[in-house]
Amino acid sequence: MEFGKLLSCKTEGNRVLLHFEKADGRLEVITDKILNVFSGVVSQEHRSKAIEGEKANGASFTVTPAIGEGKGEACVTISTQSVTAKVFDEFKVDFYAADGRVLCRDYRKERRRAAGLSDEMKALKASEGHQVEEEDGSEGIQVIKRMEGDESFYGLGDKTGFLDKRGYEYVMWNTDDPAPQMDNFKSLYKSIPFFITLRKDAVFGLFFDNPYRSCFDMGKESDDYYWYGVSDGNLDYYLIAGDNMAEVLGNYTYLTGTAPLPQKWTLGYQQSRWSYMTEEEIRSVAKKMRECGIPCDAIHLDIDYMDGYRVFTWNKDRYDSPEKMMEDLAKDGFKIVTIIDPGVKLDEGYSVYDEGVEKGYFATTPEGEIYVNAVWPGDAVYPDFGRPAVREWWGKNQRFLLDKGVRGVWNDMNEPASFRGELPANVVFTDEDEKADHARMHNLYGHNMAKATYEGLKKQDGRRPFVITRACYAGTQKYSTAWTGDNHSIWAHLQMVIPQLCNLGMSGMPFVGTDVGGFGSDCTKELMCRWVEAAAFSPLFRNHSAVGTRYQEPWQFDEETLDIYRKAVKLRYRLIPYLYDLFFEGETTGLPIMRPLVLHYEKDATVRNLNGEFLVGENLLAAPVVNPGERVKTVYLPEGEWYDYRTKEKVEGGRFLVKDAPLDTCPLYVKAGTVLPVWPEMNYTDEKDTDSELLLEVFPGSGSFDHYQDDGETFAYRDGAFNRYRCELTQDGRLTVTCVHGGYEKKYRKVRVLCLGKEAEGAFEEGKCEIRL
Ligand code: NOJ
Repeated sequence: MEFGKLLSCKTEGNRVLLHFEKADGRLEVITDKILNVFSGVVSQEHRSKAIEGEKANGASFTVTPAIGEGKGEACVTISTQSVTAKVFDEFKVDFYAADGRVLCRDYRKERRRAAGLSDEMKALKASEGHQVEEEDGSEGIQVIKRMEGDESFYGLGDKTGFLDKRGYEYVMWNTDDPAPQMDNFKSLYKSIPFFITLRKDAVFGLFFDNPYRSCFDMGKESDDYYWYGVSDGNLDYYLIAGDNMAEVLGNYTYLTGTAPLPQKWTLGYQQSRWSYMTEEEIRSVAKKMRECGIPCDAIHLDIDYMDGYRVFTWNKDRYDSPEKMMEDLAKDGFKIVTIIDPGVKLDEGYSVYDEGVEKGYFATTPEGEIYVNAVWPGDAVYPDFGRPAVREWWGKNQRFLLDKGVRGVWNDMNEPASFRGELPANVVFTDEDEKADHARMHNLYGHNMAKATYEGLKKQDGRRPFVITRACYAGTQKYSTAWTGDNHSIWAHLQMVIPQLCNLGMSGMPFVGTDVGGFGSDCTKELMCRWVEAAAFSPLFRNHSAVGTRYQEPWQFDEETLDIYRKAVKLRYRLIPYLYDLFFEGETTGLPIMRPLVLHYEKDATVRNLNGEFLVGENLLAAPVVNPGERVKTVYLPEGEWYDYRTKEKVEGGRFLVKDAPLDTCPLYVKAGTVLPVWPEMNYTDEKDTDSELLLEVFPGSGSFDHYQDDGETFAYRDGAFNRYRCELTQDGRLTVTCVHGGYEKKYRKVRVLCLGKEAEGAFEEGKCEIRL
C-alpha cells in the first residue's frame, strides 16, 4: 500500500485523520496506552470480530502537526499521557514512551527479500515431495518494524517451537495438519495475530486485527527488522503499551476480552478417546476410574456417538438411552462432553440439513449453489457462522444435547477442515451484514462457531458454558477454551506443551490444554507419566488419543504408571481452588494460569527463552521432566526465596539447581510468602463439602492472596454472589483471613492451615480469622 507524502491532518473525536498524497489513514486513541493505526481498504470502519463494543475511553491527547513549508519532514505528533506516536510520510509511524524511550519505529528502507524460486526449481523441489512455500502475503499491506536490538517475541497463538519467536516466520491461516508438528510449521489451527515485544528497555504489544491470511516474520529475513504482511483487508493494527508484560497483556485483553470464569468441575480431570464406541464402554471407563482411584470429572464422546456423523443426532444402536446413561454417571460425579463438528451431512430428510437448506444457512459457490466438500459424514456443507441468524440457529441446536444431559460441547474441525482440498477462496460466506468470502472468513470460522455455541448454551442452560474449540481467532477466549489439536505421543510434543500453552496464555487464551499422552502415535509408559505430571498444571486437563493408537487411559500401562498417574491427578485436585482463584482474577486482569517465567521476571535475561518450566499463577513454579531417561531436572529459580513444595526445604532463587526428579515427581516450588488454598482428596469436584472449612497451605514470608467462594456454576457471581477472602501473611508469621466481599450465602466457618508440616486453625469472627503460625 502506498501513501505518499503527508499533506494534512484533522482531529475528529478520538481520531486524527491523516491525509496523504495517495491514500488516507488515521490514528485513533483508544486509551492512554492503546493506539490504533488504520487505513481502510475493504471498509472505512473497523470490522473486528475480536473486539466487541466501544473500547475508546475518552483518554486525553494532544496533536502537534508540523506540515508545510519550512517545517522539515512532515510529521504529526500525537501524545497521550503515556505514549507518543509520530506519523510521517508514507504513513510511517514511530511510537515512544512518555519518557522518550523508543517503543517501536517503522523501518524506512526496503525489505531485503530473498529471490523467490523459479518455477523450474519449484517443480524440482516438489518432485521429491518437498513443500514449496507459498507467497508470503507481502504483496498487499506491509508493516515493517525496525529491530532495535535485543527483541524477544511472545504470543502469536498456538505456533510450534519454543517460547521466544525471534528468528522465525509464521503464517496466520487456520490449518488442520495431523502430521507431527515441529518447529518449522508455519501455521496451526489458530490465528491470533498478536505478539508482545520485549527488549531490555521496552515492552509493548502489536495486534494486527485483520483476519485474512497474513505473514509474521519475526526476524527470519533480517536482523534489522521484523515485518507483517497481509494480502487483503484493512491496515488495522494496535500499539499496546504497558509498564510491564502483564500490563500489556491486560491491555490486549481489555480490547479483545477476557475468559469468563468457568464452572469449577471443568478444572477437573477429563478422559477422552476417539472413540469410546458404546454406552457400555463409557460406563466401564467411568467405573474403572473410580475403582482405580483416579479423580475424574468428565468423559468425552468423540464422533461415533452420532448417527452416521450427523451433528445433533445420537446413535440409537450403540446407546440404550443417553439420558439414562448421563443421569447414572452424574450420580457418580461424571459429566459428559460431546464433540460437534461444523460440517453438516448432505442428506435430504435429515432435519438439520433440511432446515439449513430451506433457510439458506450454508456457504455457497459464487454461482449461488450450496458449496459441498467432505468431512466425516462424506459430502458435507458448511454453516455460514458469520451470519447472526446462523449463529442463533446453531445455538438453538445445542438444546438437543442439553436435553440429553450433556454438560460441555467440543467444537472440532472448525478451521474449517475439508477432506477434498481446501475451500476455494471465493466460496461465499457472510461477514455479519455483508457478503464476504472464504478468504476473509476462514480464520474467523472457528471463532464464530465457538461464539454461536457459547451463546446458545448460555441462553438455554444458565450455567457457564463449557466449550472447547480447535480453531480460534483473537478474542475467542470470551467464548471458549481450546486444545492444541492433533499432537503425537512423542517427547518433542511433551516438550512443546510448555512453550505452546504459555504462548497461548500470552495471546489472551488462558483456558488451554494439550491431549495428555499425545493424540497420534503410541504412548509409552514413561512418556505417559511425564505428560500427566506436566499437564496436571495445565488449565484444560484431558487425556485424548486417536483411533488405532495404543489406548492410554491411566490403567493401560502397569501398576507403577497407574500409581504415578493417580498421584499427579490427586495433586491437580488439591490445587483446584488455587486454579479457580486464578480464573476469577483472570476475568479482570486477562492474565493466564500457565505463565512463562518471563511474564513476571522480564528483567531477568535467563528466562527469556526458558522452555522447560513455567509458573502457575505467580507463586507456583513447575519444572516437569520432558526428556526420556532423565531422573534429575535442571531448574532455574528466579530471584527471591522459594520452598520446595514437597520437602518444604527453603531455597534461594536467582540460580540454577539440579533437582532429583524420579519418575513419579515433577519438581514444584512455591514462592516464600505464598498462601495456597487447597482441597482435601476428592474423586470429583463436588464430592465433599468444601464450603465450611478453608484449607490453606502457607509458605512463610510476607504476601497476600485473594481467595473466592461462590456456587462454581452459574453467573450469579456477576451480580455479586461471591465471597472474597483476603489472606494476608506477615513476615513474623501472622495470617489474617478477612472476608472483604460477602455476597454468597455459604461462608467458611473456620480456616485450617498447613505451614511447613505444622497445623494450625482458627475460626471466623465477624468475617475475620487470625492465626499465629
Ligand atoms: C480431529 C480432532 O483433532 C481429534 O481430537 C478428534 O478425535 C478427531 N478429529 C475425530 O473426531
